[in-house]
Amino acid sequence: MKQACVILMCIGVATAALAHTGVKNAAVKARMEGMSRLAAHAKVLGTGLRTGASQAEMTAAAAALRHEAGTIATLFMPQEDDPKSEARAAIWANWSDFKARSDALVEASAVAQAATTPAELNVAFRRVGAACSACHKVYRD
Ligand code: HEC
Repeated sequence: MKQACVILMCIGVATAALAHTGVKNAAVKARMEGMSRLAAHAKVLGTGLRTGASQAEMTAAAAALRHEAGTIATLFMPQEDDPKSEARAAIWANWSDFKARSDALVEASAVAQAATTPAELNVAFRRVGAACSACHKVYRD
């Protein structure tokens, strides 16, 4: 499924691994690592859609994604900064909107977790990708 790859590229999964090297602020580092875990779970889903991974494997990845998405608000709550951070100050000026966008990812992941066919999962995965992009567009440099 070509679309899955396109979504993964959009959300920056390919470059996730080295993005937070050299970050000194521990809170910033922690939220970046959370984002990297999100990206890793999304990658399992995107790759699995393409290769036809088992339903159990996909449900587990979606559950992990949902869990990780549920930690975004806590990880970002302290307004911390670092020269390497790509987070915009608008996050804390619009906290309830930021929180709503993290909730949207939790919901999209729950839909992916509940999917029982590849077609359903494909739709849910696109919703996941849209939730990542919707937040990055406004709150990430
Ligand atoms: C509610 C907002 C929000 C959602 C939803 C969100 N992100 Fe992020 N993401 C951010 C912000 C803000 C940053 C920048 C953090 C920083 O640099 O301090 C970021 C950074 C990242 C990074 C770079 C991490 C690093 O090491 O610098 C990756 C990769 C990433 N996000 C992937 C994802 C993926 C994949 C999803 C969806 C499955 C997602 N994000 C959903 C807000 C969000």
